[in-house]
Amino acid sequence: MVTLSIDGREVQAEEGATILEVARDNNIYIPALCYHEEVAPYGACRLCMVEIAANGREKLVASCLYPVEEGLRVKTNTERVINNRRMIMELLLARCPDSEVIQDLAKQVGVDKTPFKLEDKQCILCGLCVRACEEVVGVSAISLVNRGVNRQVASPFYEAPDACIGCGSCAYICPVNAIKMEDIGDTRTITMPNPKMKKIEFKLKKCKVCGKYWAPERQLEYIARIAGLAPETFDVCPDCRQ
Ligand code: SF4
Ligand code: FES
Repeated sequence: MVTLSIDGREVQAEEGATILEVARDNNIYIPALCYHEEVAPYGACRLCMVEIAANGREKLVASCLYPVEEGLRVKTNTERVINNRRMIMELLLARCPDSEVIQDLAKQVGVDKTPFKLEDKQCILCGLCVRACEEVVGVSAISLVNRGVNRQVASPFYEAPDACIGCGSCAYICPVNAIKMEDIGDTRTITMPNPKMKKIEFKLKKCKVCGKYWAPERQLEYIARIAGLAPETFDVCPDCRQ
């Protein structure tokens, strides 16, 4: 265990934990968009920057990446932190002016307009969908491609990715609801926030008992394969199996 202070409060933490994790464990709020406890931190959004003092120096660090250490002093609300946070929100607001999540978060940090040129993007390039697809689902159907202003989430050749099983983890984890997922009748449709990519469609499995369409056939085939289950395991939906 190490002892550190956050906003003047002494806290104890496991060695190797990050500042953001320790802050959350102690109910200290630090805004963060690209962090999720189920995937490795990536440091993309820079919203979680805090000020630290260690070895006589003060600097801004991304709290989702920075590991705590003995004697570390962390400040989450200095003028420098707040100004930095506001500028990040102004940039995000300019990139995604129609996002309700971004608008709400911007208001929370005292930003209601942006001096930067407005775009009409939906994706903030946080990479959570890509990390969830790779680390949680294990299929890597999408990735972050290109650099600079052309950076985007995409599948190979912008086609419906062969590897995608339609599980929707990307849509569930997206912090700004940029990935749309809809189940209508026997079809699930996933729409990525990339105009070059077509909608991706999946046939849903019909329950043999109640007739409800309940999960993508490809997802169920994938689960059966990796778990070594018989394909007919999923002929009946979870509700009817109880
Ligand atoms: S689609 Fe959503 S989860 Fe994926 S990078 Fe963009 S904002 Fe992040
Ligand atoms: S949450 Fe730390 S950089 Fe995004």
